[in-house]
Amino acid sequence: MRIPFVAGNWKMNKTIAETRDLLSALLPTLSGIDGVERVVCPPYPALMTASELVAGRGVGLGAQDMHWEEKGAFTGEVAPGMVGELCGYVILGHSERRAYFGETDETVNKKLLAAQKAGLTPIVCIGETLAQYEAGETAKVVSSQTRLGLQGVSAEFAPTIVVAYEPVWAIGTGKASSAENAQGVHGGVIRPVLKELFGAETAQSIRILYGGSVTAANAAEFFSQPDIDGALVGGASLKPEDFISIVRAAQK
Ligand code: PGA
Repeated sequence: MRIPFVAGNWKMNKTIAETRDLLSALLPTLSGIDGVERVVCPPYPALMTASELVAGRGVGLGAQDMHWEEKGAFTGEVAPGMVGELCGYVILGHSERRAYFGETDETVNKKLLAAQKAGLTPIVCIGETLAQYEAGETAKVVSSQTRLGLQGVSAEFAPTIVVAYEPVWAIGTGKASSAENAQGVHGGVIRPVLKELFGAETAQSIRILYGGSVTAANAAEFFSQPDIDGALVGGASLKPEDFISIVRAAQK
C-alpha cells in the first residue's frame, strides 16, 4: 500500500515572518491529519524557522532544490548536507528550475544521487511542455526524463523516491490536466518505466504525485485514480484552508 503524499511548494514566496504566520495557520489542523505524508517546502531563508515550528508536529520539511556537491566554491548554492540539517525532503528538477536555471536530466540525476547519499527523500519532477504536449510527445518526454533522471540509484533507495508528474502547461495556469490524462501518464508511462528500472515490486511502491493547478476543488478527483498517489501543490499551498482540504482529500 502506498501512503498518500502531499507536498506544498511555496516557490519564491514567504519571508521568515510570513512563514511563521502560514505555519501557525496550517499546523494545528495539519498535525492531526493521519494517513497522509505531508510536507511543506518554504524558501531556504525560512527553513530554519520552519524546522523549529514543524518539529514533532507530524509535518515534514523540504527544500526546493540543492546542489550535488558536498561543499566548495559554488557561490549561491546549498549543499545536500546543509539541506539535511533542517529537512527530510528536497524537490529536484522542478520545471521552473529546468526552464529558467539550466536544470537538465543530467543535473537532476547528480542531485538525486547526492540526495541518496545525504539520506534525503527526493521529490523528482518531470513533465512535458505545452509544445511537446501538442506535438503528442508526452510519453516520449516523460519516459526519457524518468529514465535519465533516475538512473544509477540503488535498490534500497529506489522505493523512497517520490516522482511528481507536472505537465508544464498546467503549472500556475489554472488549467489542470484532467484526472484521466494524468492517470494515463502515471499508470501508462511512468510506472512501466519504473518497473523496467527497478522491477515490479519497487515500481508498485513508488509514489507518483500529480502537480499543476491542483486545488481544493479538483484534488479528490485526482486522488481517486489508481496511480495518482498524491500531489505537489504550488499556489494552493499558500492558502491554509485549501492546502488542508487537499491533504484531507488524499486520506484514503
Ligand atoms: P501550481 O504549481 O499548483 O501553482 O500549478 C505546482 C508546482 O509548480 O509544483
